[in-house]
Amino acid sequence: MSLTKTFHIQTFGCQMNERDSETLAGMLTDMGYEEQEVRNDADIVIINTCSVREHADERFFGTLGQLKKIKEQRPEFIVALCGCMMQQQHIIDRVKTKFPWVDVIFGTHNIHEFPKLISALASEKERQVDVWEDGGEIVEGLPSKRKFSFKSFVNIMYGCNNFCTYCIVPFTRGRERSRRPEEILREVKALVDDGVKEVTLLGQNVNSYCGMDDAENEVTFPQLLYMLNDIEGLERIRFMTSHPKDLSPELVQAFADCEKICNHIHLPVQAGSDEILKRMNRHYTSARYLKLVDSIRAVRPGIAISTDIIVGFPGETEEDFEQTLDLCRKVGFDSAFTFIYSVRKGTPAEKYEDQVPEEVKHERFTRLVDVVNESAAARNAAMVGKVCDVLVEGSSKHGQEGMLCGRTSGFKLVDFPGDESLTGTIVKVEITEGKTFSLRGQIAE
Ligand code: 5AD
Ligand code: SF4
Repeated sequence: MSLTKTFHIQTFGCQMNERDSETLAGMLTDMGYEEQEVRNDADIVIINTCSVREHADERFFGTLGQLKKIKEQRPEFIVALCGCMMQQQHIIDRVKTKFPWVDVIFGTHNIHEFPKLISALASEKERQVDVWEDGGEIVEGLPSKRKFSFKSFVNIMYGCNNFCTYCIVPFTRGRERSRRPEEILREVKALVDDGVKEVTLLGQNVNSYCGMDDAENEVTFPQLLYMLNDIEGLERIRFMTSHPKDLSPELVQAFADCEKICNHIHLPVQAGSDEILKRMNRHYTSARYLKLVDSIRAVRPGIAISTDIIVGFPGETEEDFEQTLDLCRKVGFDSAFTFIYSVRKGTPAEKYEDQVPEEVKHERFTRLVDVVNESAAARNAAMVGKVCDVLVEGSSKHGQEGMLCGRTSGFKLVDFPGDESLTGTIVKVEITEGKTFSLRGQIAE
């Protein structure tokens, strides 16, 4: 057995959490730990939790239950919990009373304190709980252990000010704070020097990014994109998530001007009924959303558009729901993350009385998925015969010998025959088949 101590991080939820886990992995690597693939064999396990939906809670408590056995066999085994669930007092209370074998609890605002908590655990030999209510100054310069050598997430802002009535995120991630543009540029340049070709800029609502530059002038999101577009060696820029209410004409113009911005936008619509959108506190109508789609397509005709949609929000009638289906048909999404509304403790919609019955939610969900899949398949079928630039991610996940997979600029997954040595490069692939969730192709001569 190796003497080097090991860690395993299990990450739930969104890209923010994935990025935070890379920082935790970076800190653990600096502390001399090595990554362990098998969770139950590691010396430290960190569970980075998500609170967006209810069923994730139950899965999480199930996972915690399984860890008890390992703790019994190996008392020195360390269990640490972080992420959005830990920002909720009722969750911490439940962990403290029902899961006494948990050693460390911290939140979304103080991941940089993790090494300190681990050494305090070692010296004090008692459970460490440190969760901050809100984010302080942004901590720069933390280490990171990236999952991919050729692409990377880059946080540009933290938190959310929007308080959509169904959403827990403003309560778990605090108020909006934007990083300084110089810090972002410095990070992206360092990534490019390290071989990264594609960055995905992360924020709950990147369109309201507002960073202060060294001359103390405000820099908007489109301005940041122009700066990044000028970085030599960087090939692709992605970003998420864009809130429709803050999508400015300047951002549309940036799509026209900046060739490195990928041919994809993730633009969550959530619902197609104006009444429901109002009660979700989204600040746009379906007509406004359709106009935005038109304006983006006017400068980027083939752009792929993906979205998030919730069915069964309190008070959603059959008519409201049909308006969602109607909007989906009008837009023709390339893909959509579809969610069944689930009540989140502490959000305004928790108090809404007219909750939709479970069976109605499920029936609508199935109908929605059918409509979304239809447009996804049609959009993918229309790609056949086109030659696309594909950033190769490695062997195909479908397990077929000699098959690679990668992403087009439009974020579509393509499987094609090729040699693994192409991983991390951009190759030209001719699309030969369009399926609902992916494409097939062959390397173009
Ligand atoms: N129930 C269902 N879906 C939700 N989302 C956020 N909160 C909820 C909830 N309470 C979805 C939204 C958001 C995505 C990340 O998760 O569609 O855009
Ligand atoms: Fe949640 Fe709305 Fe903020 Fe997105 S914009 S994180 S859905 S509150």
